[in-house]
Amino acid sequence: MAAAPKKIRDRHRRLAEEIEAHNRRYYVDDAPTISDVEFDALFDRLLAIEREHPELVTPTSPSQRVGATPSDSFSSYTHRLPMLSLQKVTARDEFDAFDQRVRAALEADESVAYVVEPKLDGLAIELVYEQGKLTVGATRGDGVTGETITPNVRTLRSIPLSLDQGLAEQYPRLDVRGEVIMRQSDFAALNETQRASELPEFANPRNAAAGSLRQLDPSITAGRRLVFYAYGLADQDLPGLETQTAVFDLLRTAGFRTNELTTTVAKPDEVEATFEQIRELRPTLDYEIDGVVIKVDSFEQQRLLGQITRAPRWAVAWKFAAELAQTVVNDIEFSVGRTGAVTPVAKLAPVRVGGVTVTNASLHNEDELERLDIRIGDTVVVRRAGDVIPEVVEVLTQHRNKAARSVRYPDRCPSCDQPIVRLPEEAARRCLNPSCPAQREGRLFHFASKPGFNIDGLGEKLARQLLDRNVVTSPADLFFLTVDDLLPLDLMAEKRAQNLIAAIDAARATPLPSVIYALGIIGVGETAARLLAESLGTFNTLQNADQATLETIDGVGPVIAGNVIAFFANEGNQLLIKRLRAGGVLFPDHLSMRATGLPLSGKTVVITGTLSRPRSYFKEMLEQAGAKVTGSVSKSTDFLLVGSDAGSKLEKATKLGVTVVNEDEVDDLIAGEPE
Ligand code: IVH
Repeated sequence: MAAAPKKIRDRHRRLAEEIEAHNRRYYVDDAPTISDVEFDALFDRLLAIEREHPELVTPTSPSQRVGATPSDSFSSYTHRLPMLSLQKVTARDEFDAFDQRVRAALEADESVAYVVEPKLDGLAIELVYEQGKLTVGATRGDGVTGETITPNVRTLRSIPLSLDQGLAEQYPRLDVRGEVIMRQSDFAALNETQRASELPEFANPRNAAAGSLRQLDPSITAGRRLVFYAYGLADQDLPGLETQTAVFDLLRTAGFRTNELTTTVAKPDEVEATFEQIRELRPTLDYEIDGVVIKVDSFEQQRLLGQITRAPRWAVAWKFAAELAQTVVNDIEFSVGRTGAVTPVAKLAPVRVGGVTVTNASLHNEDELERLDIRIGDTVVVRRAGDVIPEVVEVLTQHRNKAARSVRYPDRCPSCDQPIVRLPEEAARRCLNPSCPAQREGRLFHFASKPGFNIDGLGEKLARQLLDRNVVTSPADLFFLTVDDLLPLDLMAEKRAQNLIAAIDAARATPLPSVIYALGIIGVGETAARLLAESLGTFNTLQNADQATLETIDGVGPVIAGNVIAFFANEGNQLLIKRLRAGGVLFPDHLSMRATGLPLSGKTVVITGTLSRPRSYFKEMLEQAGAKVTGSVSKSTDFLLVGSDAGSKLEKATKLGVTVVNEDEVDDLIAGEPE
C-alpha cells in the first residue's frame, strides 16, 4: 500500500489531537464540550483513515486505547530511579517527631513548606515519556523492578499518549509517577457484573484496580474504567522545577489528572488541619484513600534530607485510624426485604464510626449469626467503610455478662407470620409469601426508587400507608391514582398530592433499563438491567427471550437468566405488566443515544407553554426519538412544541420560520419514518 499523502497524514494528526483533547476534557477535567455522538463521529473518521492507511496506526493513536493484542506474560522493567515507599505516622505527636527530624537536618532558621496530598489507595505506576511520547508504563513492583504494562496503561483515557511539543523539547524524558485507582461507583458496578456472571467478586477497589491493570489482555483493562492520578516525577533535579508544587502544576498543564485536595502549607498546625479536612471529606469521595502523604515541598531540601534504606526522609504517610468502634448490642431484630430474605440486624447503642453515628449493623445471615455467636447485651466492634452498611466484626466475649441473651432465627416471618425457609444452596432464609406486607412494601418502594420509576416523594413511609390502606395493592395501581385518592392520607396536602401525581405521570416514559430494574427481578440490579436493555432493545424481546439467549449476554449468567425466565413465567407478574401497560407505561424501546436513524435524529426541539403533561414527559419522548431538546429558540431549532399560553418563544419561532407543532402533531413526528 502506498504511503498516505501529506494531506491525509495531516488530517489524521489533527483528528488524533482533537480526539485526545476531548479525552482530556472528559477524563481529566470532567468537563466535556461535545456529546458522545459527536465524539463517536470524530473517532469513526479516524478509524476510517486508519483502515485506508494502516501505517498511520502508531502506538500513540487514540485508536490504540481499546487494547492491543494479548500477550503471554509481562516483561520486567527496572525503574531508572527506584520508586520508594513511605515512613508512617498515625498521630500528631508522631508527625511532630518527623517534622523535628526534618528541621534538625536543615539550617536552624530555614523555613519548611509541606505539600499535603491524599494517599490514594490504588496501585503505583510509572509512565515514561520520551520526546513527548508515552513509551513505557510499568508497575511499581518491589520499587526497583516492576512489570511492563504499556499496552494496558494506553487504554486509560486519563493518561496522555503524547505530551505537548514545547514540553517535550524542554524535557526530552519525563518519568511520571502516580496511582491507578478504581472509583467506588465503578467498583460496585464491576462487582455487580462479576456476581451476575457468577465470577468471583473483588474484595475492594484497590484489588479491582490491580486485577484490571495487570491483564495479559489489555482489552479487558480497557473495559474497566480505571483512573490515573499523577503525583510526582522520578527526578528531583529537572531545570525549572524547584518544588513539588511546581511539579504538580506542570503535571496538570501536561494533561494529567492531579488530586484537587492537594494543599501546600507552612506549619505543622496547618498540616494537621489539612489532614483533618481530608479525613472529613473521605466519606464523600468516590475513591478510597487511607491517609495523607506529606512531602517537603522544596527539592533542594529534599536532596539535603536524602533517604534511609527504602524511604525518603522528606516524606511521610499519615494514615487514618481504622474505622472501627466499640458499642453495645441493645437488640437483634429480623427485617424482611422485598425478595423475602430475612436478615438479622443488630440494634446498637449509638456510636460514632468513621465520621457518622451508627445505630444498626447488618448481621447478614444465619451462618454469620452463628459464627459471631452474638447476643443481646454483648459488647461488639463495628466497622464502617465508605457508604457500605456497617457490620459487626467481632464480639468481645471477655465483656459478656450473664444477662446476655442469644436469639434464635425465627421460624415464622416477623411481618406476615408465615413459615420461613432456608432454600438449599442459599445462605438467606426467606419468607415465601408473595403477599407478605414487608415484601410488598419493599417491592413498591423499590419500584418507585430513583434507579427505577423515580417517583419523587414516594418513600418507605408512604409506600407503607398506600398498601396498609389499600389505596394501592400492586405497583401498577400507582398509574391509576388521582389527587383525590391521595388526599385522605396522613400528611398529604393538596400540593404534595399534585406533585406526586405529576411524578407518576412523568414516570410513564421511564427508559427501558429503569423499567426492568423497577420490576425487582432477583439479581437484576442497575447494571444487569442496563445490559438486558442494551442487548435486547425492547421489552417484548426481553419478555420472550429464552434461557440460551439471555445467557449469551455478556454479564448475565445462568442464575440471572433463570430468574428472568421465572419472573416472566409467573402469572402474577404477567398481570402486573398488563396493568402497567393499561396504566400508560410506555416501555420505550432502548435505542442507544449513539444510534442514528431515529425519527428525530439530528433535530433540535424546544418546548414552550402549558401542555397536558409535564415537560419532562415530552422531553423524554422526544429524546427517545433521537431529538435534542434545548431551552431557547434559534435558527438551528427544527421544531417548537407549543402548549397553551405560549409567549416569546412562539413569537421568536414564527419570526425565524421555525416549524411550530402542537401535542398531537408531535406524536406523529415521533411515530414518523426514520429519515
Ligand atoms: S509519593 C517517596 N504520593 O503510597 C514518595 N505516594 O508508600 C513515594 N501513594 O505505593 C510516593 N498516594 O503508590 C505518594 N499522593 C501520593 C500517594 C502515594 C498513594 C502510595 C504509592 C506507594 C505508597 C508509598
